[in-house]
Amino acid sequence: MTGSTTTPRLGVVGSCNVDLVVRCRRLARPGETVLGDDVVRLSGGKGANQAAAAARLGANVSLIATLGRDESAAWLLDTLRGLGVHDELISRSSRPTGTAFITVDDRGENEIVVSRGANADLDLADVDLEPFDVVLASMEVAASVLDDAASRSRHFILNVAPAAPVNPETLDRCAVVIANEGEAESLSLTTIEHCVVTMGAKGAVHFQHGREVARVAAPVIDPVDTVGAGDVFCAAYAVMWARGWPARDVLAYAVTAGALATLALGAQGALPTHEEVTTWLARA
Ligand code: RIB
Repeated sequence: MTGSTTTPRLGVVGSCNVDLVVRCRRLARPGETVLGDDVVRLSGGKGANQAAAAARLGANVSLIATLGRDESAAWLLDTLRGLGVHDELISRSSRPTGTAFITVDDRGENEIVVSRGANADLDLADVDLEPFDVVLASMEVAASVLDDAASRSRHFILNVAPAAPVNPETLDRCAVVIANEGEAESLSLTTIEHCVVTMGAKGAVHFQHGREVARVAAPVIDPVDTVGAGDVFCAAYAVMWARGWPARDVLAYAVTAGALATLALGAQGALPTHEEVTTWLARA
């Protein structure tokens, strides 16, 4: 692997949620009730997960998000500070802090319902995005926020999760668009300059205007919980992209970081360090 190991300045625009997680033997079908273990409260939200993962990988990270004014908000802020995420750009709303209701089965598969709450009130009007080398954003905030961020960022990476329509001008402004296989179905890959599609245990592919330019398999790992693995992938991708590493190396690094993130319960339960990722890559 070649490239710099500088400390990129990353702005992460996205959600910050309390994750209420229940483990169960298998996921419920529509209309069905299944019994699960005791509920666990964990910190989550795609934005917060990405910010925490990037900080752990060595970036200088500010989370740009909105919390409520409740006890959950205070708890989430403490957690984020503990992980080294800068919180000066986190605003408050009178709505409740976002909450995700998550079930995880024996195979590590999950189902998630998000009540966005305060996340829906995020507004970037007073936020200066110029200092950031890269702004990474995801879609649990208003679409207008993404359009604003894309138009004012030096380099903008968009994770189209959860899937929803995106303004074509915003897609045009992206340095990279990151989607999982399901989310990629609603994208026209040939019109996007750089699109990275994650495929879970099968790894990831980098397309340039719809043409495959790199493909990386994932390390063989027995996952405990895949919640947040995509967020860690995006964070790792943004950090190494900002460091200017070659496209295939960035992809391999991000795939490995995402896989390592599945080794404990919770979206932020197994965030890998830069050393852990590079050690795994050296073994591969
Ligand atoms: O990507 C995983 C995340 O999605 C969870 O942490 C949950 O909060 C939802 O935002």
